[in-house]
Amino acid sequence: MGPMRSILPLLIMASAFAQDAATEEQADKDRLVMATIEKLKNFDYANASPKVKDAVGRFLNANRGSKPYFDFLERFHVAEEGPKLLEFGISKVGTAEAGTAFKTLVNMGQVEAIKSAILAAAPDKFGLLLDTLAVSQSREAAAVILQVAQDPKASADQKSIAVRSLGKSRNGELVLLEAVQKNRLPAEGKLAASQVLNASADAAIQKAGSELLPMAQSADNKPLPPIAELLARKGDAANGHAVYARICIACHKAGDEGIDFGPALSEIGTKLPKEAIYTAILDPNAAISFGFEGFEVKTTKGDSYIGMIASETDDELALKVPGGVIVKTPKADVASKTKLPISLMTPGLARAVTEQEFVDLVEYLSSLKKK
Ligand code: HEC
Repeated sequence: MGPMRSILPLLIMASAFAQDAATEEQADKDRLVMATIEKLKNFDYANASPKVKDAVGRFLNANRGSKPYFDFLERFHVAEEGPKLLEFGISKVGTAEAGTAFKTLVNMGQVEAIKSAILAAAPDKFGLLLDTLAVSQSREAAAVILQVAQDPKASADQKSIAVRSLGKSRNGELVLLEAVQKNRLPAEGKLAASQVLNASADAAIQKAGSELLPMAQSADNKPLPPIAELLARKGDAANGHAVYARICIACHKAGDEGIDFGPALSEIGTKLPKEAIYTAILDPNAAISFGFEGFEVKTTKGDSYIGMIASETDDELALKVPGGVIVKTPKADVASKTKLPISLMTPGLARAVTEQEFVDLVEYLSSLKKK
């Protein structure tokens, strides 16, 4: 064993001590800077000296997620910390710390950043992020959730999820009610809004909501209860099949039964949970199935057809119209082809069934599983 070998660990230890002493000294200085800032009424981080900014940066890095960290940001909105705080909140989504992170971001005015992060989130995180934002129950957070529901980039599904997230707090319900009153809620969010407002525990909100967005009526001439209540009931699938055969086979195939116009429902119980089946029937416009969008075709002869595009070539446009019939028009005779903003599925079908029949129908549909 040479002398160097025995000395090396000592050297390493010595330098570690020196470093410790240096960081200790640095930490002391930082504490002093932070204590001074704490005492200031209006500390302007943006115009602080680089030394002060460094000290603040080290403090925030070392304490991210702690109470002093959040307290500091609530008092002095350090805009530069926004992205890291957002990242922190997203990584802890669903926890109380994430709720505090989002609340702090809202108070710091970093609304756009939160909104784009939520809109870009994976489908399994989207609702969770909104609910984490809703945790603070503040009006400001609710306003951000409403903005997500109103965003033109949001899908119909995302809009409904955002509206349901507003139902997690009283302030959320109030923000939602106001949007409905001012007609600022996109059509795709209306069914969810009617569900949220009609189920509010606040009598005034419930009343205002039920007047603006009444629950769909059933054939027994009474408004349907919210979907959450229907979901808790068990239906009779055999009776549901009878209802299906009475109304839905005009446009849907299940197995060999029915007309091939709307999407086949043979495996709908695998594709959609019960809640989504209720939504599809109560509000066909909420989410229009891909490939089943409606079009209106006008011909030069003055005819007008409504249906979905079955095929289109340079010479001919084929439209599948309700009843499953294909109407072919030579391209030369097509005067216009306009995409319809609404579903080809009849709205208000719930009015054709009683409340119990509706529960039975959905029980039947959810039993149609992939084999
Ligand atoms: C006039 C024709 C018509 C009638 C009647 C009709 N539907 Fe539809 N349905 C459609 C069309 C077209 C679509 C696809 C467009 C859309 O998603 O809105 C559709 C979509 C659906 C979907 C979504 C399917 C998917 O794969 O996402 C469900 C569920 C559904 N219908 C159930 C029913 C039930 C249950 C009834 C009877 C109470 C019914 N429909 C009656 C035309 C109809």
